[in-house]
Amino acid sequence: MRRTAGLACALLGLAVAVWSEPAEPRARFTPDPAEGLRLLLEKEFLPPAFDQETFDELWRVWPTELRARAKNAERPERRRMAMERYGLHPRPGDRRGRPLQYVVSDAGQWTLNCFACHGGQVGGRVIAGLPNSNLALHTLTADVRLTKLRLKKRLADMELGALLIPLGSSNGTTNAVMFGVALMHGRGDDLEPAVRPQRLTFDHHDMDAPPWWHFKKKTRLYADNFAQKHHRALMQFMLVPRNSAALVKSWENDFRHIAAYLESIEAPRWPHAIDEDLAKQGKRVFEKTCARCHGTYGEDGDYPEKVVALDDVGTDPVRLHALRPWQRREYGKSWFTDYGKRAVVVRPEGYVAPPLDGVWASAPYFHNGSVPTLWHVLHSKDRPRVWKRTRTGYDKKRVGLEVTEYRERPRGPTGKSKREFFDTRIRGKSAKGHTYPDDLTEPQKIALLEYLKTL
Ligand code: HEC
Ligand code: HEC
Repeated sequence: MRRTAGLACALLGLAVAVWSEPAEPRARFTPDPAEGLRLLLEKEFLPPAFDQETFDELWRVWPTELRARAKNAERPERRRMAMERYGLHPRPGDRRGRPLQYVVSDAGQWTLNCFACHGGQVGGRVIAGLPNSNLALHTLTADVRLTKLRLKKRLADMELGALLIPLGSSNGTTNAVMFGVALMHGRGDDLEPAVRPQRLTFDHHDMDAPPWWHFKKKTRLYADNFAQKHHRALMQFMLVPRNSAALVKSWENDFRHIAAYLESIEAPRWPHAIDEDLAKQGKRVFEKTCARCHGTYGEDGDYPEKVVALDDVGTDPVRLHALRPWQRREYGKSWFTDYGKRAVVVRPEGYVAPPLDGVWASAPYFHNGSVPTLWHVLHSKDRPRVWKRTRTGYDKKRVGLEVTEYRERPRGPTGKSKREFFDTRIRGKSAKGHTYPDDLTEPQKIALLEYLKTL
């Protein structure tokens, strides 16, 4: 009796299994770039950073003169001043004037998104995927902390975290690599909360985010190309304490869409006139002196994705060593690489020569953002020791940021205004190296500069 019941159950189970098999094969998942962009603009992957009231009250903690101006201004003008101070840009075409850099919910909650660092302006034109060379993340976070204390609101992770980990010591660059290290350290291979046996040490240094139109040309990611390109690689910042392993993993399809969006981005074209003859001469110089590392451009262009040893390229060494071999190894055996299926480079030799598409737009240059214009890239001995940019000024002649150069950092500015200066003598901020153009004659450099505008 029992056996027949068991058999009946088994048969029933089988029938149900067969019955519930979908009649047609499941629709294949198709990553959609438009959906990727929508998710970046609308979905709150992180806990909210602050609310509208906090943002609208920030001006009360500003320096005296600025505060006085804000006090006499109408609310829209005050908001514009706040956006300017923190390097936030209005989303192109958005009637509500929302910033590109935050998801702003209907309830008025502001949540940081990838465009904080990867959405910038060039000559006042806002471009998604362009590094945000104006971002003043540490200043914003410090002002938010003061304002929340004043309004008796709870501090968020960022305001507390920034007390331990500097977010960026020159505007336009961030300590993003160390945020990644800190977030990874609190998780096991499967992203579950874990205590790693290794002692966590930080080597703080600021990085200039790379333009997103590089993504389609690269097979590996980051300044040292240590990780393989994959949508999971884009999810590291999701590991804030609030997001459980299961929640992060449930967003994989979202990040497939986001990766498709990144693949779809084209570099912006130089918006001014080009001297075609000069550019043609420059192209010949480029192909002789630069193409072996940076590749060729145009119809049948080819990108070699070459990693150049540190003692050859000679740019700032801190980033290369700041990611320790054990940290790369831990990343390499985690969920991010499908437990080792996508190999990492544990001891990279140096930095990758990046694609130069749209390079006119993505100043400042080098992985640490230490060189303000392409002219300065080509004149290694004339790079400024200390420089300060204007807010949206574009230097058409030298191709890059409009800057004031200083021999020394002017005395006086401290804290927030100090971060408006880029001081190449600070650790991690050296503008040395990459002396490949040194042997070119001045006319060759002028032609080369013209050619670089066309990429
Ligand atoms: C706080 C600033 C910041 C935020 C926020 C940020 N990034 Fe980045 N991103 C960087 C920096 C800096 C690098 C360079 C890191 C390196 O090379 O070591 C980078 C590198 C990358 C790269 C590698 C590009 C290449 O050419 O190798 C991709 C892709 C990327 N980020 C995507 C994203 C996505 C997607 C998000 C949102 C989920 C995001 N980033 C959020 C700062 C940021
Ligand atoms: C031996 C290889 C090599 C040669 C030759 C070379 N470069 Fe580079 N280049 C690199 C590397 C590596 C980097 C990245 C350095 C860094 O970020 O620290 C780089 C960075 C750059 C950058 C900055 C890109 C950015 O987005 O920040 C520019 C511009 C550039 N090179 C232009 C040139 C030009 C023009 C020439 C020819 C005169 C040239 N390079 C020759 C390897 C090379």
